[in-house]
Amino acid sequence: MKGNFLRKRISRTFTGLEEVVLESRVPSYEELCGKFRDIHEMGLYLHIPFCEQICPYCPYNKTIYDRELASRYARAIVQEIDCYAGIAGNKPVTSFYIGGGTPTTMLDNGLRDILEHVYKRFNMQCSIHMESHPNHLSPQNIATIQSMGVKYLSMGVESLQDRHLKTLRRPYTRDEVIRTVKRVAGQGFECVNVDFIFDLPDQSLDEIEQAGHALIDMGIDQVASYPLFRFPYTQLGKEAKANSRALPTMLRRRRMLRILEGIFYDSGFERSSVWAFTRKGVSKYCSVTVPLYLGLGASGGTYLKNVFYLNTFNVEEYTRAIESGQDARALSVELSDKMQMAGWLYWRIYETRFRKSDFFDRFRKDFDTVYGKYLKPLALLGYLKDDGEEVVLTDRGTYWLHAFEDFFSIDYISKLWGRSGREPWPAEIIL
Ligand SMILES: C[S@@+](CC[C@H](N)C(=O)[O-])C[C@H]1O[C@@H](n2cnc3c(N)ncnc32)[C@H](O)[C@@H]1O
Ligand code: SF4
Repeated sequence: MKGNFLRKRISRTFTGLEEVVLESRVPSYEELCGKFRDIHEMGLYLHIPFCEQICPYCPYNKTIYDRELASRYARAIVQEIDCYAGIAGNKPVTSFYIGGGTPTTMLDNGLRDILEHVYKRFNMQCSIHMESHPNHLSPQNIATIQSMGVKYLSMGVESLQDRHLKTLRRPYTRDEVIRTVKRVAGQGFECVNVDFIFDLPDQSLDEIEQAGHALIDMGIDQVASYPLFRFPYTQLGKEAKANSRALPTMLRRRRMLRILEGIFYDSGFERSSVWAFTRKGVSKYCSVTVPLYLGLGASGGTYLKNVFYLNTFNVEEYTRAIESGQDARALSVELSDKMQMAGWLYWRIYETRFRKSDFFDRFRKDFDTVYGKYLKPLALLGYLKDDGEEVVLTDRGTYWLHAFEDFFSIDYISKLWGRSGREPWPAEIIL
């Protein structure tokens, strides 16, 4: 109750609204054409929602792999690409990310067709960043992935202790996953990222330290290390008794992250986002990096300046809608200038640094006039450094400012993804 009251007050300060309402009215083809007129570059997100197992902690939109459904899904995506290519014309696509689920489930069943179609229909000016799963990375599959043009690859390692891998129900042992990662790391990708989850039930600080060193020893270029978030609609979330946002939990996570930071910094890595550390000199593995993007597939989200919309999360419904010439878009929200600016600031804090001139280029407004009054006290607290042109979050600031952001995002994600996962076409969702 108290949390909700506070969330509404803060939301009103930054966005002008206490609640964000996503509605089932979505922009028409003609409206989209209009929105594209003054967009100069964009990103592309492709969602592959299939997995071979459902992990008990995972909040993402996914379903068990089914060969027949995956083939139909691939054909539906090709149709969706054609639709957007007609609207976007020759505008450059400068960032391309394939997430999931597990994209490598479709390696021999439609993924190549989708990627060839993307490169045929859009003006692609970037490489591919893609998620995968450790159990999919045989030498033959790695060769297939590279032949598709993927240069930035990620996989969920999750933990490096067998007892924790068991809790997370991951289908491999520590030794097996280490062998796989070492093999992938030597294959000439621009960047190999591994996802690592910490603050698992009963995890000790010694275990974090051992895992941190083991991660570095595997020869990877990047680690994205997240604390275990307990989303109420996942199995682990339902079982959890502890309040993961209580102060003792936050302080324990801070200690664990400090241990990892120390190991990664000593090994020549630098922070590249709130949770990610990248080897110096390597260009980072990341999701879509440009502010405006198109989302393809079930639950694909699209952001075009003053509108954000989402495709239906239901894979069967997404495929059926596209096959029958209907709209797969399920929910949208119009974004006021204030909301767009708040969204921009949210993502820049996530990336831990930004230039004020980028804010001016995007909104034609002076950053300090809009947000200066919040920056000054944060600089005094040692949470960030502001040299007048660039703002850089310190390690301390990164953690606490993101904990503040989580106060919103975990709640918003739980409502939006939880409900969209249950209802393919919700009438409205209030965040
Ligand atoms: C789409 S998956 C990664 C790719 C692939 N499906 C796999 O499992 O290896 C996204 C990643 O998000 C992270 N993640 C998922 N659920 C999480 C949670 N509840 N808390 C923290 N991180 C989580 C995990 O590290 C996971 O590997
Ligand atoms: S963690 Fe990966 S494999 Fe597990 S359910 Fe989520 S997306 Fe699928």
